Amino acid sequence: MPITSLEFDVVRKMIYERAAIVLEPGKEYLVEARLGPLARADGCTINQLIGRLRNGTERSLSDRVVEALTTNETAFFRDVKPFETLKSTVLPEIIARKSASRQLNIWCAASSSGQEPYTIAMTLKEHFPQLLNWQVRILCTDISTEMVTRTKLGRYSQLEIGRGLPAPMLLKYFNRVGLEWEAAPELKRWLDVRQMNLAAPWPTLGKQDVVFCRNVLIYFDVDTKRSILRRIRDLITPEGYLFLGAAETTRGLDDQFESMHIGSGGCYRVLGAGKTVERRVS
Ligand SMILES: C[S@@+](CC[C@H](N)C(=O)[O-])C[C@H]1O[C@@H](n2cnc3c(N)ncnc32)[C@H](O)[C@@H]1O
Repeated sequence: MPITSLEFDVVRKMIYERAAIVLEPGKEYLVEARLGPLARADGCTINQLIGRLRNGTERSLSDRVVEALTTNETAFFRDVKPFETLKSTVLPEIIARKSASRQLNIWCAASSSGQEPYTIAMTLKEHFPQLLNWQVRILCTDISTEMVTRTKLGRYSQLEIGRGLPAPMLLKYFNRVGLEWEAAPELKRWLDVRQMNLAAPWPTLGKQDVVFCRNVLIYFDVDTKRSILRRIRDLITPEGYLFLGAAETTRGLDDQFESMHIGSGGCYRVLGAGKTVERRVS
């Protein structure tokens, strides 16, 4: 039976409270499609499942509903341009500036199943051999414990590999394990993978040279987006770089960020920090 508007409201409120994800009216079909498999696994209807959710007595059920309602769409080298900007401009600038401390901290703030942080790791390995002597950390966080486990494991199906990973990179940085491919230890070594809710108070994460926060702000309301951008601004080094998804912007949300156009791509920096790089690329 289709869910009622009251049942939709139960789910809508719960996912907003737990993950700040906004489910607009009209997304009933999404709730039905995502909760259907959970209901079947529990041998009940979606309506009964939402009834149990409303009772609020089963924390593990609401955890499973949060997992089911997050959209984990991702791919290797997704949108390509951010990784070109990273390679052509961002990393050369950071490597020159931090040659004394030789520390590089990158945060992938909604890392899903790991394709994005592994893409960053491959970009570093492939083009910046000098980083071998650096202390590199790619912090990977996501609200989904399932995605955190997958990122730690670093294993991908042929279908996932086929989405964006060039064959030479596959052969160089992945090992075959049965029908899947597993990221090489030299990539995994750099990743520090943790579960974290961007909409809740953050633990101490340390200063970051680069933040990737791509294709996650789109799920939040304006206040949540503002709060996340402000906290990223506090966390990023004064000369740091922020990458957002193609459909996301700081404009109208945080006027302390300025956008930088580099080639056909771009990223954001805290106001005033971009002067050196602008001179370098002009
Ligand atoms: C569409 S994926 C984007 C993955 C990757 N950044 C990319 O661009 O390919 C969005 C990710 O955000 C995560 N997410 C959703 N709400 C979140 C929250 N409140 N805190 C942290 N992560 C969240 C989801 O679990 C999902 O893995």
